Amino acid sequence: MDRQSQTPAYDISPANVTEKVIASFVMKTPRQQQLLNSLVGHLHSFARENQLTHAEWAEAIGFLFRCGEISSDKRDEFMLLSDVLGLSSLVDMTDAPQGATEGSVLGPFYASDSPQVPLGGDLRPTADGTGQLVLGRVVDVDGAPVPGAAIDMWQTAENGLYATQDDAVPDNAFRCKMRCADDGTFSFTTVLPGPYMVPDDGPVGELLRAGGRTAWRPAHFHFLVMAPGHRSVTTEIFVAGDRYLGSDAVFGVRKSLIVAAEQKDGRPVIDLTFRLARNDVPLAAE
Ligand SMILES: [Fe+2]
Repeated sequence: MDRQSQTPAYDISPANVTEKVIASFVMKTPRQQQLLNSLVGHLHSFARENQLTHAEWAEAIGFLFRCGEISSDKRDEFMLLSDVLGLSSLVDMTDAPQGATEGSVLGPFYASDSPQVPLGGDLRPTADGTGQLVLGRVVDVDGAPVPGAAIDMWQTAENGLYATQDDAVPDNAFRCKMRCADDGTFSFTTVLPGPYMVPDDGPVGELLRAGGRTAWRPAHFHFLVMAPGHRSVTTEIFVAGDRYLGSDAVFGVRKSLIVAAEQKDGRPVIDLTFRLARNDVPLAAE
C-alpha cells in the first residue's frame, strides 16, 4: 500500500497514476512539494486531455533529447525553448516587484566576463565618428537615486552579431560592466544594435518553422541592473521603429522598454531610467 491510497502501490491505472506519482515524492520544503505536485498534475492532464499517442510522446522525448544534444557552454537550447514558448517572459512578468522597471529575457548571449568600463567609456572597438550616447540613471521605485548601483550591458553591433559571434571584432566589444556614480547615473558610447535571428538551426528552429513563426528579434540592449539592498532587474531596451517590435520571437518587448534615440547637441542620445525595488518589498504572491 502507498501512503495515500488503499490500493496496492503496484495497482496502477489511468485513474490513480497521477495521485500515486504525486504521493511518491516527499520533498524537503512545502514550495518544492507544491511545484512538483503541480508539474506532475499538469503533465498528466496534458496527456489525458489530448489522448497523447505513444508516437507523439516519443517524438516529444526525442525533441527534448535533441535540445540537450545541441546545447553546450555557448548555447542553451532549453533556454531558447523556454523563450520561444513565452515561458521566460511570463516568469519575468509574474516574478516582478511593483513599480520596478519591467524585466525581459536574459537570452542566451549573456557573458558574465564583460570588462569593467569607467563611466563615460566607449564600447566600440574603434572610436569612429560620434557614436550613440547612452545615458542612464538607477533610482528606487520612488525616484530617489540608488547608491552603489552597477550595470552589466551587452548588445549586438549594427550587423546583429554579438562580439562573441563576430571574428571581426574583439570579444569584449559592445558590452561592459559599469559602476554608477553616487547619484545613480551612468553613461557610455556605443552604436545602435541591429535586429537578429535567434539560433534556428536546431530543434527550436524546427518548431518555429513548423508553426510558421519568425526567428527574428527586434534590436535591443540587454541590461542587468543591480544595487545593494535592491532586487536586480534583468531587462532589455528596444529601439523605437524596429520592424520586428510586434513579432519578437521570444515575446520580450514591453511598451515601457521601447526608447527612441534623440538628437541632443548634434549627437544621438538614448536616455534611460531603471527603477529598482528594495529587497524587503514583499511580493504579491508571497
Ligand atoms: Fe539579445
